[in-house]
Amino acid sequence: MNAARHLVLVAGARPNFMKIAPLVRVLRSRPELFRWSLVHTGQHYDEKMSGVFFSQLGLPEPDAHLGAGGGTHGQQTARILEAFEGYLMQLPAAPAGVLVAGDVNSTLACALAAVKLHIPVAHLEAGLRSFDRNMPEEINRVMTDAISDILLVSEPAGEANLRAEGVAASKIHYVGNVMIDTLVTHLHAAASLDTAATLGVDGRNFGLITLHRPSNVDDPARLESLISVLQRISSRLPLVFPVHPRTKQKLSDAGFGHLGDAIRFVEPLPYDELLCLQRQATVVITDSGGIQEETSFLGVPCLTLRPNTERPVTTTLGTNILVSGDPAELAHHVDQILRTSSRKQTAIPGWDGKAAERVIGALDAAL
Ligand code: UD1
Repeated sequence: MNAARHLVLVAGARPNFMKIAPLVRVLRSRPELFRWSLVHTGQHYDEKMSGVFFSQLGLPEPDAHLGAGGGTHGQQTARILEAFEGYLMQLPAAPAGVLVAGDVNSTLACALAAVKLHIPVAHLEAGLRSFDRNMPEEINRVMTDAISDILLVSEPAGEANLRAEGVAASKIHYVGNVMIDTLVTHLHAAASLDTAATLGVDGRNFGLITLHRPSNVDDPARLESLISVLQRISSRLPLVFPVHPRTKQKLSDAGFGHLGDAIRFVEPLPYDELLCLQRQATVVITDSGGIQEETSFLGVPCLTLRPNTERPVTTTLGTNILVSGDPAELAHHVDQILRTSSRKQTAIPGWDGKAAERVIGALDAAL
C-alpha cells in the first residue's frame, strides 16, 4: 500500500456531483489507499446548479476551482483543458491518476489534459453509447473512452460497447452505478420531505418534468409543441417543472411567460428535493440521463423525450420508455400510465449502493 498515491477527482457539472460524492465517502474511510484532491472546473457555477449539491451531498470545498464555465462548446472545452493542464502542471509531483465522470464537456477536457501529461485517466460511466453523434455528450463519451486507461462501467451495455470497439478486457471494470449509491444514501432524507406539498401540489397525483437537451429546447418549434402537449397533459395531471437555466433562457426567448397554474415552473431543485419528487411522482417526463436511471431504480414510470438512450438497461430492466418524434405520443403514454398505475422494480447488476467501493478497489489495483 502506497500512502503517497495522489488521486485527482474532477467534477464540473451538476450530474458529476452525485457521481463523485460516494467516491469521496469511500476515500475518506480508506485514507491509507489514496491522498485525493477535488477539482471543480466551474462548468456549472450557479448556487442552484452547483453550490447546493456540494453542501447537500457532503462534498468538501474543492481544492481547486477553475472557474471555466460558460461560452460555446469549443470555448468551454478549451478553457477547461487549459486551466486543468495548468492545475496539473503546478502540482509538486504528477498524480497517480485522474478520475473523470460522465459525459460533460469537463469530462473530455480534463481527460485530454491529463493523458497528454502521461497521467493515467479513469473514466467513470465508461462505454455508454447513444450512437447519436448529434449529441455533444456522445462525442465526449467516445473521445474520453478512447484516451482513458481505466474504464469503469455502470451497466451491461457499457461493457458490450467497449468490447465491440476492441478495448482490451483488462481495461474494463464493471463496477455498477455510483449514482445509485448516492440515491440509496439519500433515500431517508428524501422520504422525510414533502416537496410536492411545499410546491403546492398534491403529492399523490402529479407528474415531474425536466428538459434541457438542445434537441428539445433549442428549436423554438419543437419547444413550443412540447409545451403545448404538456399543457394538455396538465389538465388531467398537475405538472411540476424545475427549469434548467438553459431551458429558462429558451422559454423566455420563445416568449413563454405564464403557462397556467397546472404547470408549476420552479427553479432547479437540490438533490434531496428532486429525489423526493421522483419517488412521489405518478410519472416522470425527462430528457436527462441520470433521471432515467434513478426512476428505474425507484420503479417509477419514466417517459424519456429522446429517440435513443445510452442507458438501454433502463428500457429493458427499468421503467423507461423512449418517446421520440411527435410529442402527441407523450399524451398517449401518460394516459396509459394513469390507467394502469403499475410500478415495476427489477434489480440491475451493480446498482446496489456499493459501486463506489468497487471503483476504489479497481483504482487501488490499477494505479
Ligand atoms: C451540461 C452537459 C449535459 C448535462 C447538463 C446537466 C455538456 C455538453 N452538457 O449541459 O450533458 O446533462 O449539463 O445540467 O457538458 N448555466 C447557468 N448556470 C449554471 C450552468 C449553466 O446559467 O450554473 C447556463 C449558461 O447560460 C450556460 C448554459 O446554461 O451557457 C448551458 O450550460 P452548459 O454547462 O454549457 O450545458 P448544459 O446545458 O448545462
